[in-house]
Amino acid sequence: NFFPVILAGGSGERFWPLSRKHRPKQFLTLDETGRSLLQATSDRLTQISGSPEQVMVVTGGEYRAHVLEQLPEMPLDNLIVEPVARDTAPAVLYAALRLAQEVPDAVMGVFPADHRITSPKEFDSVVRRAVEVGQTSDYLVTLGVTPTFPSTGYGYIRKGQLLVDGALPVFRAAQFTEKPDAELAREFLIDGNYSWNSGMFVWTVQSILNAFKKYQPQMYDALSLAMTRRRSTGEVKAVFPTLQKISIDYAILEKSDQVVVIPAEFGWDDLGDWNALERLLKGEGQNVSVGRHIGLDTDGAILYTTQGDDLIATIGLEDVVVVRTPEITLVVRKDRTQDIKKVVQQLKSHP
Ligand code: GDD
Ligand code: MG
Repeated sequence: NFFPVILAGGSGERFWPLSRKHRPKQFLTLDETGRSLLQATSDRLTQISGSPEQVMVVTGGEYRAHVLEQLPEMPLDNLIVEPVARDTAPAVLYAALRLAQEVPDAVMGVFPADHRITSPKEFDSVVRRAVEVGQTSDYLVTLGVTPTFPSTGYGYIRKGQLLVDGALPVFRAAQFTEKPDAELAREFLIDGNYSWNSGMFVWTVQSILNAFKKYQPQMYDALSLAMTRRRSTGEVKAVFPTLQKISIDYAILEKSDQVVVIPAEFGWDDLGDWNALERLLKGEGQNVSVGRHIGLDTDGAILYTTQGDDLIATIGLEDVVVVRTPEITLVVRKDRTQDIKKVVQQLKSHP
């Protein structure tokens, strides 16, 4: 009774302009496999749950058609459409409440749609372990990843007491810190006792609902009440925009003392921004390009064009990202790629 739920409602702003409002990152194919990030995620999870009937997707109405097109084997009922995007806490709560109506004793998994995993076998073992641990306890199980740089874009979990030893040990999370500032991130890295939060979770539907009741009572009451009403679709539509816009990390994981972590290595990359392309194409420090590039005195550049035979030429540049799509050209310093979000925001207010 393991039901993986894929979160596919993000707008992928940090991958702009390749990722656009109408077709964000999770629907793009970034490697040679021919499968989009969402399809690859679904493939991995179908393998584990045993059937596409148990894989669910939560997304926004604007992406419904993309999901159905990309996952034709998924039953229609497994697609949960949220009326508006209110970040991951409301999305997870909605999915948990829906699942509870059908399968009250379900073990629920939460998986971002837009990550890359290069060791699927390892991933398989870790998720199975997480399901074992999650289904027999009230724990909120997170899959951890050993940090390799002081990222300010991830959550950090300090490993506490060892709960279960073995090939994949389970630790109590002594502390959960979502997106620390640069200084704190450096401390965590040096300390050595922290795992990154991969954003993947396993818990029973009952445990996560209890956690919402306890730490987000308003959100829980509003949405669960709306869903028990007779005209629940309309009610949910009315209530959703009033829910606090907050991620599951801030809403629950930072607060709960039931969080545990399984530190693991499965070749994980969250493809958080354009710098990920360097890792994807294995060219750290060199120029990496998708499309043609001529670089004179150019080092550490990341170049990307969506048009097959387009040429990008650069002279005397270091550590820049250049992305060309039919409508947009982006040029950004590598250390400023997190700020691409701000351009997207500006575009939204002055299109
Ligand atoms: N359905 C739905 N609705 N999905 C959403 C929404 C929403 O409103 N907002 C985001 N998502 C999806 C995204 O598509 C992505 O797959 C996933 O939820 C996580 O959202 P991100 O916006 O990518 O989160 P993040 O990367 O800033 O941080 C999270 O992931 C990190 C690892 O990649 C946190 O969990 C961090 O703690 C973690 O380290
Ligand atoms: Mg992310």
